[in-house]
Amino acid sequence: MSGKTAGAATRLLHAGAPALRDGSGPVNVPVVRTSTVRFENTAAHADYHHRRAAGERIASYGRHGLDTHRALEDAVTDLEGGHRAFLAPSGLAAISLVLLALLSPGDHALVADSVYSPVRRVDQTLLQRLGITLEYFSPGDDNLAGLIRPNTRLLYLESPSSLLYEVLDLPKLAAIARARGVTVVADNTWSGGWFYKPLALGAHISVQAATKYIAGHSDVMQGVVVVDSPALAANIATAHEALGLAIGADDAYLALRGLRTLPVRLAQHQRHATQVAQYLAQHPQVARVFYPALASDPGHALWRRDFSGASGLVSFEFRNADVAEANAFVDALAYFGIGASWGGYESLALVAQPERLREHSYWTGERPVVRLHVGLEDPVDLMADLGQAFGRVGAVAPARLFEAAVGV
Ligand SMILES: Cc1ncc(COP(=O)(O)O)c(C=O)c1O
Repeated sequence: MSGKTAGAATRLLHAGAPALRDGSGPVNVPVVRTSTVRFENTAAHADYHHRRAAGERIASYGRHGLDTHRALEDAVTDLEGGHRAFLAPSGLAAISLVLLALLSPGDHALVADSVYSPVRRVDQTLLQRLGITLEYFSPGDDNLAGLIRPNTRLLYLESPSSLLYEVLDLPKLAAIARARGVTVVADNTWSGGWFYKPLALGAHISVQAATKYIAGHSDVMQGVVVVDSPALAANIATAHEALGLAIGADDAYLALRGLRTLPVRLAQHQRHATQVAQYLAQHPQVARVFYPALASDPGHALWRRDFSGASGLVSFEFRNADVAEANAFVDALAYFGIGASWGGYESLALVAQPERLREHSYWTGERPVVRLHVGLEDPVDLMADLGQAFGRVGAVAPARLFEAAVGV
């Protein structure tokens, strides 16, 4: 009843579960905190050390993590359909790990211009000093093949993109890169690994900020890297060890606990976010809604082809408001917290920084954009909250619109 033939949700619930000992045991994997791993004798210590150096997923020291870490790695590897997973102290650390592991001085990498903006900070503050060149390209244009140079080693992208959820044609882009021996890396944070499977669509590596949907409760910082082959695992393992990346067992436990309920949380985020997106789409103060599950979204056809669902992230552009009014709108919200994260159970709102929008060639608008993370609160309350906040910004009749959206 178990193993590879079980459904994805079943495997997610059981991956890494502890074996029963003497006929009984806990449901959850224990939190194994340690800095030191003890050995029976010096020969056993040496044996572990050598086996680990040869690539085995075992710990000879606390930094490598023990049972809790292994269980999380197993579950995330299964979730992404990969060969092996690595844990990092944050999503950004996971991204930096991949870039540092795979790029050397003189190398060139192509980066979709719509990626999570701090990738550019890694570029400017670290990679440029190492003689590595990142080139940002417009992923909707048809010119990827022309941009690949003899020294291009990596294609890095994120689909849907940060802030505006531009959906990329990953199978097409990955096929072009693969044909030229370029490694393809996808940031899969938006889907939590549940609604989107980059490794099955041509990527070699999937990276996630587990901080978001995997942990799911706004109480952990964490990153994961899942690779599709032993060769890439060896590359990442070497850099992971050299950088000394480690996460605490308590955080590994929290991420694993979050992972167990990922499908049900995401299904609910999707239901609520779809209602909110539909509500926004018919609001006179809204010029445009960014949500790939809406038929009006330019990425809708690709989303239908490659994704099995949509997350709780919804952005919208105001029709007339300026930045001060957009800030006033967000300040007026009662149920949406104001914060830079997302992926937890709660709703959040933030005015997107205009300079970050301008980095995206996809962005053609002029007015402020608000990014919402639609949480697990009652969506009727969330729409009423948005309605009253719109009412503070302009002279609209929010109550009437709200009634139309929820069909009451
Ligand atoms: C798409 C995406 N990737 C990576 C990260 C970085 O994750 P972390 O905040 O855990 O470093 C974020 C954070 O917001 C993100 O939105």
